[in-house]
Amino acid sequence: MEALRASILHCLSDPGEDSDPSAREYFDDGLLIVDRGLVVDVGDAGTLLAKLPAGTSVTDYSGKLIVPGMIDCHVHYPQLDIIGSFGAQLLDWLNRYAYPAEAQFADPGHAREVAGEFVDQLLQNGTTTALVFGTVHAHSADAIFEAAEARGMRLIAGKVLMDGNCPEELRDDPETGYAESRALIEKWHGKGRLGYAITPRFALTSSEEQLAAAGRLAAEFPEVWIHTHLAENAEEVERIAQRFPESRSYLDVYDRFGLLRERSVFAHCLHMDETDRATMSEKGGAAAFCPTSNLFLGSGLFRLPAMRAAGVRCGLGTDVGGGTSLSLLRTASAAYEVLHLQEHALPAMRALFLATLGAAEALYLEDRVGNFTKGREADFAVLDFDGSRTTARRTAAAGTIEEKLFALMTLGDDRNVAATYVAGRLV
Ligand code: GUN
Ligand code: ZN
Repeated sequence: MEALRASILHCLSDPGEDSDPSAREYFDDGLLIVDRGLVVDVGDAGTLLAKLPAGTSVTDYSGKLIVPGMIDCHVHYPQLDIIGSFGAQLLDWLNRYAYPAEAQFADPGHAREVAGEFVDQLLQNGTTTALVFGTVHAHSADAIFEAAEARGMRLIAGKVLMDGNCPEELRDDPETGYAESRALIEKWHGKGRLGYAITPRFALTSSEEQLAAAGRLAAEFPEVWIHTHLAENAEEVERIAQRFPESRSYLDVYDRFGLLRERSVFAHCLHMDETDRATMSEKGGAAAFCPTSNLFLGSGLFRLPAMRAAGVRCGLGTDVGGGTSLSLLRTASAAYEVLHLQEHALPAMRALFLATLGAAEALYLEDRVGNFTKGREADFAVLDFDGSRTTARRTAAAGTIEEKLFALMTLGDDRNVAATYVAGRLV
């Protein structure tokens, strides 16, 4: 058993646009007690220290803030080295930057090198769980699972399915895509903290045969995730409408192929109507809100209040390399700006929810991670208000924890993550 002393903050539910104080718990001088990788208790240090068994080690992070490990609901590890590539919207950007970067993953050594660096950067940013795109190469999934496993991290990933409308060298076909995905599920899904996601890139790069094969796999393995992109860019949506005239919407294309169910996670979801939102909510699909990507690629504005009002599970995604940072603090700041542009609020506590418990709900992992309820896996980040001179001065001048957290999100980055723990272990 081990204890950590610091300010501690976590969400119990969605604080909403009004930042309901009963949706979170805050201990100014708190104690988090961990045993064998799980949370044993959280509360006021004054009360809990007196009850600790004699000899329990207490790590003192006084003055810092412990929050649950952050969860990235959508990110591409093969795009690590093309972050911030200039001047293109989605379909051009894929051709100019993403596909050439992904083609380099034909080399398994390159995949292993990038996977290790990627996972280390996630942890440096306080991210302890992620839902990750690989490339079309099956060994790209092996590489990211091996990297996560070596660090004890919870991670869900998959080999990309894409058999058309992309460079020849990045194509699989319906049969090999199905067979390789199936073999990867058998090899990795449920191994330690790892999970598999069936990963059709998006409906524009898969034939109907491949979408149908992905749907068959999804029905055969109901416990694995489905991970794809949905309704990100106007030109993409237009092309989908032309290609699938019988579908009432882009979401409906996935639904018809059996790809909308619990544990389906859709990145972006910018162009959806009320019927789509209701259908997604009813069938248990989730949305990854990727604000830095949506701004950087000029895609559009995510309608968080409408999605939540419809009951859709939502979490933040960085969408690196379309997104501009692996930091969920930076991503929360962009989310605030996206909502502000739509005359809505994103209070710091709701942003924290979207990066922790809300994201856990989106991934159907809320019984494992996302907050400090007893029995949850002890994944957490120790945030440092003094990580930069700017955050040190701004947070010193702030009054409430809400103000301090908002300042950290607006101004912070990986410099404000002092330490990251996975399953109770400092990494
Ligand atoms: N849609 C299909 N592929 C991609 C991708 O790699 N990034 C983003 N942002 N959108 C996509
Ligand atoms: Zn993406």
